[in-house]
Amino acid sequence: MTSFSSFPLQRCVLVAAALLCHGTTALSLLGRKSTANQVLAYLQQNDQLAPFVSQGGTAVITGGNSGIGAETVKALVASGMNVVVCARNIDSANQLKDELGTATKDRVEIEYLDLSSLASVQEAAASICSKHDGIDVLINNAGIMALPQRETTTDGIEKQFGTNHVGHHYLTRLLLPQMRNKGRVVNVASTAHNFGLSAGNEDWESKESYTPWGAYGTSKLSNILFTKQLKKELVSVNQGKMIDSVCLHPGVIASPLWKHSLPSFMQPLVGLIANKSVEQGAATSVYCALSRHVEDGAYYDDCSPVEPSQKAQSDQLQEALWMYTEQLLTEKGFELPSSSVVAENVAAVN
Ligand SMILES: NC(=O)c1ccc[n+]([C@@H]2O[C@H](COP(=O)([O-])OP(=O)(O)OC[C@H]3O[C@@H](n4cnc5c(N)ncnc54)[C@H](OP(=O)(O)O)[C@@H]3O)[C@@H](O)[C@H]2O)c1
Repeated sequence: MTSFSSFPLQRCVLVAAALLCHGTTALSLLGRKSTANQVLAYLQQNDQLAPFVSQGGTAVITGGNSGIGAETVKALVASGMNVVVCARNIDSANQLKDELGTATKDRVEIEYLDLSSLASVQEAAASICSKHDGIDVLINNAGIMALPQRETTTDGIEKQFGTNHVGHHYLTRLLLPQMRNKGRVVNVASTAHNFGLSAGNEDWESKESYTPWGAYGTSKLSNILFTKQLKKELVSVNQGKMIDSVCLHPGVIASPLWKHSLPSFMQPLVGLIANKSVEQGAATSVYCALSRHVEDGAYYDDCSPVEPSQKAQSDQLQEALWMYTEQLLTEKGFELPSSSVVAENVAAVN
């Protein structure tokens, strides 16, 4: 039987047709089974890499020592980017660095970051800003899931909301002034955002009632609301042309994330519900981080924009969460750059 690849002309026509219909490109050529490496190869072969990649740009990723984050780091490094791996487990971050080839591991830097401590976020951001003149991509990937009991961060914030959302909101606000023109913020959310917040109740920190999945859902809903509000905030200060804000669902992946959600004897069940390998789970993060074109404010799944829940699309919730978070940070004694500082510095870096 003749293979598809033996017809180069037909292949070129199909690729060209797909490129003309942006949005269906990824759907038609990349899909649920694509791995992070395949996404990178696709972007390289079709001249679809963002310009900062060939310029040896810099990416910062949280939770880059494990699971989807570690696979994303490998693809970013393979693309030629410099990568700052933010991790609270420095040993496993060093282990990942050692696994990379000697030719590339020099482009990986490790930064201590505990997202459940706002002081740690502040220190990590200051350290990153002091070492880097410009950041092209920030991937807010770290997360915890379904803690059995309500716990709080060092600053007294419900732990899933505090780690998955507030820590990332603060980190983003502190790094934005250092981000380069045409950079982007990528937030790793989840389809579990559907479980977040009951109707008409903005109990962001699950103070009135706590369920493990409800609080996780609220933190992941917050990732999407934050993405969309960040787009609006950037539009209001710089017409939104300079930095894109996107989020994504990576798929269901058997990673250490599941350690709290099931007792250890039931952990093998995760393999049954998983619909992607870890390499496939990192594919949409890599697409969103490195693709020349992304849809500002969009929620991606399988490398294509899709509609999140109605709640995630609510302008009122997007604004309410932004205000709640900024007020919380101020109440806890952590200063934020003003919006105008973001705009001035974005312009200054470029
Ligand atoms: N796996 C899935 O099925 C799935 C589905 C939808 C969405 N997601 C999302 O994908 C992202 C990555 O998850 P994963 O599956 O790759 O899980 P993972 O392997 O457990 O990775 C999570 C990462 O977050 C880090 N982290 C947790 N708490 C932190 C803190 N306080 N400060 C700094 N880092 C912290 C972890 O560090 P340690 O190694 O020190 O614990 C780890 O590096 C998460 O945002 C998750 O919500 C995953």
